[in-house]
Amino acid sequence: MKKVIMINGSPRPNGGTSTAFAALRQGMEEAGVQVKEYQLNQLTFKGCQGCMGCKGSEGCVIKDELTPILEELKDADGLVLGSPIYMFAVSGQTSLFINRLYSLIDGGYQPYAGKARKLMTVYSMGSPSAGYATTEQNRVCQAMDMLGFKEADRIQMTGIFPGQIACQLTEKEFTKLQERGKKFVKKESL
Ligand SMILES: Cc1cc2nc3c(=O)[nH]c(=O)nc-3n(C[C@H](O)[C@H](O)[C@H](O)COP(=O)(O)O)c2cc1C
Repeated sequence: MKKVIMINGSPRPNGGTSTAFAALRQGMEEAGVQVKEYQLNQLTFKGCQGCMGCKGSEGCVIKDELTPILEELKDADGLVLGSPIYMFAVSGQTSLFINRLYSLIDGGYQPYAGKARKLMTVYSMGSPSAGYATTEQNRVCQAMDMLGFKEADRIQMTGIFPGQIACQLTEKEFTKLQERGKKFVKKESL
């Protein structure tokens, strides 16, 4: 694997998603992979307009701050998609992003990129157990599979408080996530 895109759908720079991303990224970069990370909350972009323009020709008709990222995703080998759980689902920012990924497949539901990519999902939640977040993670992975992103790993950060409280990981937990990052980029087969 050469290039990984990390998409963070949390607005919180010190939350569970961002903290997990820091550890995973460190592991992936130590393994020699190029990592590009984007915070959806810092971008101005629209949701899918349902025009189906992407089914007639490649690419999303909407031109906004998501456009270069969708372009970059075409030649990425892996995607790490992270989100908080808000109201039993991914954040609004993450949902808009996933809908825009519909432009990566043609009218026959085949990825324009012509190759499958690896997917890791990272979910952060207040609940002490993953429970229904797993159902939501399954749903997203199913949609992502249709788009050509095959699930290779999933992370669940549980019991993370919202608000100003920063997510604190022990050294052992941080190292574990670093190792997951390394494994994600090293394992060649899906
Ligand atoms: C609007 C809102 C809705 C939330 N809904 C849920 C929920 O349904 N289940 C849950 O376990 N936690 C819920 N939480 C808590 C967040 O999932 C939790 O704080 C999570 O760590 C946020 O991710 P982050 O730390 O990466 O920002 C909610 C928080 C907010 C602000």
